[in-house]
Amino acid sequence: MKNILITGASRGLGYQMARQFAEQGERVFATCRNPDGAKALQEAAAASDGRLTIHRMDVGEMESVSACREELGDTPIDILINNAGVFGGLATQTFQNMDYDNWARELNIMLMGPFRVIQTFLPNVRAGNDKKIVSLTSQVSAHAYDHLIGYSYATAKAGLNRAMTALAQEMADEDLIFSLLHPGWVKTEMAGDVADLEPAAAAADNIATIRKLTREDSGKFRKWDGGIHPW
Ligand SMILES: NC(=O)c1ccc[n+]([C@@H]2O[C@H](COP(=O)([O-])OP(=O)(O)OC[C@H]3O[C@@H](n4cnc5c(N)ncnc54)[C@H](OP(=O)(O)O)[C@@H]3O)[C@@H](O)[C@H]2O)c1
Repeated sequence: MKNILITGASRGLGYQMARQFAEQGERVFATCRNPDGAKALQEAAAASDGRLTIHRMDVGEMESVSACREELGDTPIDILINNAGVFGGLATQTFQNMDYDNWARELNIMLMGPFRVIQTFLPNVRAGNDKKIVSLTSQVSAHAYDHLIGYSYATAKAGLNRAMTALAQEMADEDLIFSLLHPGWVKTEMAGDVADLEPAAAAADNIATIRKLTREDSGKFRKWDGGIHPW
């Protein structure tokens, strides 16, 4: 049984991965900003025979991340998944019309958030067996992607990519695996119904890919189906 910590597990891909990992017999620490409002996650916890527990963590606030670490103590974590994300909408992140407060919020949650979480929980990951740190990025962060969708979102994810490759380089002499995953274009609240993939199916594919990650994947950018993402 693996210990898995997931951020932003109240809904969307985070919720689906938390539920499915628990159904597969793993021990899941599902974290979210507002546990009382996370009804689907509560149901998954109730059905999990104690394998899924819910913990408060707002990745945008260091105090909240630290409080979650205090709650979990020295529990080893085999797989840490930085999933929490926000998208402030296309209209307010163009060259002509930039909402700078939203840009700061997206950077805080999707670039600094994973950094905070890793900084705080690295001792737990080092104590785990798998030592996997998976961060959900996006295809729009890649230079190889042929059109820009939102400056705030794309730059937050591109910054995340660089931070993760830098951590992989800095800690290259350890057995840690820093993986970047584009989870697919998925029909969640973030992407809407125009997207390609159903959340449950996409989560299953991402889980299968996460399970297969090896040391050689550290610093690499993969897709939900396991393929290398060009960047
Ligand atoms: N869906 C796609 O097509 C797609 C494509 C590429 C990448 N991604 C990435 O995949 C990840 C999951 O996205 P999704 O599609 O599942 O989005 P989603 O349905 O909008 O879910 C986002 C999750 O992040 C949580 N969150 C937001 N701010 C947070 C914070 N400060 N602290 C903790 N949790 C926070 C939300 O919690 P609340 O309920 O509290 O708001 C929610 O659980 C994101 O990183 C996203 O950028 C998604």
